[in-house]
Amino acid sequence: MPIDHSLAVPPFLYGTAWKEDRTAALTELAIRTGFRGIDTANQRRHYYEAGVGQALAALYREGLVSRPDIFLQTKFTYKDGQDHRLPFDPSAPVSVQVAQSMTSSLEHLETDYVDSFVLHGPASGYGWTRIDAEAWQAMIKELEAGRTRMIGVSNVSLRHLEQMVDSRDHKPVFVQNRCFARLGWDREVRAFCKQHNIIYQGFSLLTANVDVLRQPLIRSLAEQLNATQAQVVFAFARLIGMLPLTGTTDAEHMRQDLASLDLNLAPDWVNAIESIAG
Ligand SMILES: NC(=O)c1ccc[n+]([C@@H]2O[C@H](COP(=O)([O-])OP(=O)(O)OC[C@H]3O[C@@H](n4cnc5c(N)ncnc54)[C@H](OP(=O)(O)O)[C@@H]3O)[C@@H](O)[C@H]2O)c1
Repeated sequence: MPIDHSLAVPPFLYGTAWKEDRTAALTELAIRTGFRGIDTANQRRHYYEAGVGQALAALYREGLVSRPDIFLQTKFTYKDGQDHRLPFDPSAPVSVQVAQSMTSSLEHLETDYVDSFVLHGPASGYGWTRIDAEAWQAMIKELEAGRTRMIGVSNVSLRHLEQMVDSRDHKPVFVQNRCFARLGWDREVRAFCKQHNIIYQGFSLLTANVDVLRQPLIRSLAEQLNATQAQVVFAFARLIGMLPLTGTTDAEHMRQDLASLDLNLAPDWVNAIESIAG
């Protein structure tokens, strides 16, 4: 019987990108507000992973939450996606870089395991390469060693996924992608995920779809439901089976994003939003 990973995954992830020295305070606020899933990366260029660790340590000390209450996701990022602050030796083979990045993440996050370890993006936009296969094998080793509970991939196309699955590699539990409404909200990749029992994580649901949020359909639904347009989009995402991310820096938006979990949309509305732009 396939393992139902969704049981261990909260319904909304709080993203910690681009928060720099506000990372610890905002992560703490997100958890106090009710988020239990945290997304970060060992990529100092866009994330301050150690700040996430500081927030968690403070909350554990206070007793508000303990490690098992939190779904913690981090990523391995190739050298090309990093700046000079590398969490690995760039001259080492990729498999060693993956292990070094994980060791560094565990130090930053002050833990001995993460719940999910994600390949931040394949080496090439065109397909799943030998380098990706090497990184993925190294991630499987982390899984087997118990340093992560699940593994995933990010910024992937249908082609990447098909090639990855063809190669009979261990399947990802997660796909994390930027979700454009003009691509039917990543329809092809979502369909593949559904078929292969992979959980689709969507980011930039608001920022990649600014025009869609202004459309009359979303506006009138928001009005009818006494909700915000952002809440309608997050509720829609959940109802089509997506695990949404938000990286809001605003306390009220944090509350609203979580409250969207209680918002229901009729199936006809969900279908209309799904094809609103593509
Ligand atoms: N795998 C990858 O390559 C990748 C790439 C990008 C992001 N991510 C992950 O996804 C997370 C989210 O990133 P994102 O690209 O979706 O953008 P985001 O950081 O969530 O930004 C959302 C923007 O929308 C605004 N906003 C307005 N109303 C909002 C509401 N009700 N709720 C939330 N935001 C609202 C926010 O402003 P306020 O701050 O004022 O609310 C913010 O400017 C990141 O932190 C990161 O963890 C992953």
